[in-house]
Amino acid sequence: DWTMGAYREEAIAKIREQVGDAKVICGLSGGVDSSVAAVLIHKAIGDQLTCVFVDHGLLRKGEAEEVVSMFRDNYNIPLIAADDSERFLSALDGVSDPEVKRKTIGRLFIDVFQEHANEVGGAAFLAQGTLYPDVIESVSFSGGPSVTIKSHHNVGGLPEKMGLKLVEPLRELFKDEVRALGRELGLPESFIGRHPFPGPGLAIRCPGEITRAKLKILREADAVYIDQIRKHGLYDEIWQAFVAILPVRTVGVMGDGRTYDHACALRAVTSVDGMTADYYPFSHEFLGETATRIINEVPGINRVTYDITSKPPGTIEWE
Ligand code: XMP
Repeated sequence: DWTMGAYREEAIAKIREQVGDAKVICGLSGGVDSSVAAVLIHKAIGDQLTCVFVDHGLLRKGEAEEVVSMFRDNYNIPLIAADDSERFLSALDGVSDPEVKRKTIGRLFIDVFQEHANEVGGAAFLAQGTLYPDVIESVSFSGGPSVTIKSHHNVGGLPEKMGLKLVEPLRELFKDEVRALGRELGLPESFIGRHPFPGPGLAIRCPGEITRAKLKILREADAVYIDQIRKHGLYDEIWQAFVAILPVRTVGVMGDGRTYDHACALRAVTSVDGMTADYYPFSHEFLGETATRIINEVPGINRVTYDITSKPPGTIEWE
């Protein structure tokens, strides 16, 4: 793509100019945005960049391993990968309010990230994969009065506290443009085509209190659901798909026995930029087959619903 090629060169030049010979740290979330930002910055300044990947215990099945192998093994980008799940999950113990969850994770993320950044030593810049919609959605909604819909986990706070300056090379881009830039940078299509994943991770797909047991169920159910979507060739038609585990248990019957397990909701939407979205019109066959698989393969779930709310009035995530 001619335009993105030019954008890339311009972005690389800007990063070099802004950073000089200083060290930069970049938080990786496993998502497309921070990955593209990291590869772009690495192209610009090489090993002046160190990436930090914090496993907050709210990642999907296999996600931490995928990120590490992609960056460390394939790209040779210096990477600190840390398992901090115990700290996050204990801080979230008993928390059920969505904004308190987001703020707890955001605050702790700052502390934890800062500790890892100190391991790098002497960094002057912090790189983030903030996109244009992140910037505006955390400030106002639909051009209306300034109302915070959700506190975004990757905007604000961190740089001031750490005394670092920000590098945000994607700040002017929408998601589809970030993907085009990622292709321009040679990231594998499988990675570029990944559905977005929010900073607070599975925490905001687990309404009510977050427990390790619920997270385990959620991870397994999500893996089955995404596998179904891939097998049916629907992954690339969908903007984002995930399971939310509901804080209710319902009665079911399996074999000769009564079950009393969690209900879950499947979510899948189409969207251009995440600002508005429509629910994806799966066939009833697909939904039926998926429900059967989840209930058979995931202990702890005995009821599956499909969320048919568009955005607005819903949001994509449940919290
Ligand atoms: P909502 O739920 O607000 O989500 O309709 C819109 C898009 O943003 C993602 N999202 C986040 N991404 N940090 C992120 O990096 C966050 O705190 C966050 N909250 C929501 C969401 O997954 C969807 O793609």
